[in-house]
Amino acid sequence: MMKGVVLAGGLGTRLTPLTLITNKHLLPIYNQPMVFYPIQTLVRAGIREVMVVTSGPHSGHFIQVLKNGKEFGLDHLEYGYQNNPVGGIADALSICEDFADRGSLMVILGDNTTDANIGPAVHRFKEGAMIFLKKVPNLRGLGVPVFDKKNQKKIIMIEEKPKKPKSPYAVTGLYIYDNKVFDYIRRCKPSKRGQLEITEVNNFYIKAGMMRWEELKGFWSDAGTFESLLKASQYWAKKKGIK
Ligand code: DAU
Repeated sequence: MMKGVVLAGGLGTRLTPLTLITNKHLLPIYNQPMVFYPIQTLVRAGIREVMVVTSGPHSGHFIQVLKNGKEFGLDHLEYGYQNNPVGGIADALSICEDFADRGSLMVILGDNTTDANIGPAVHRFKEGAMIFLKKVPNLRGLGVPVFDKKNQKKIIMIEEKPKKPKSPYAVTGLYIYDNKVFDYIRRCKPSKRGQLEITEVNNFYIKAGMMRWEELKGFWSDAGTFESLLKASQYWAKKKGIK
């Protein structure tokens, strides 16, 4: 079975002062710490071996909360530490090379919550990469795909936080990669914000003709801003039947 990765580094500066208390991914979304949601998404897909990458001043808090993962139904939970807390998403993923053990990985950003079932995509996956797109009204601050004018199903590139998005889709923080991902990360150069960008990794796969995509069915939101944190809490409270 494919292994899973949750990337929970970064400093969460957009959620200051809450992130002075603890790591962003341990803040509540309704009745659970944020990081529970991506772990539960992996478990629902049948994944039983997970690595959580974290960083920053509160990284030690994770162990008390997630323990050895058994309470989630995991057989194996591994922790990784990203030395530069804002090295970028691709930098955080680079730490998982040994864990991947030449296999493919289902990767979720620790601040992404969804109730979509990614199980079928995980089971069908063979090689290359796969991204999950979602139509959202506000694309500000997200990765957005550009489609081929002649073939509206073909992505020709992904733009990171474009001022003028060229499609109505967000690239969500759920990705499946084969083992080539680590070679592509080694080829990445720091972006303008000084990070190794996952969008650059995805563009390498697109150039190689090895990227597939599907639309994520169900709710999806990240929770990295006060607005999205509230939106995600409200959605899950309603779904879980708050009175
Ligand atoms: O949420 C989806 C979006 O996530 C995508 O549409 C973008 O293409 C992608 O770049 C990313 O955008 P953000 O700018 O919102 O990413 P952010 O810096 O907030 O990081 C998202 C998560 O990734 C964060 O909750 C933890 C993890 N991360 C991030 C950084 C910068 C790490 O583990 N290490 C890091 O160094």
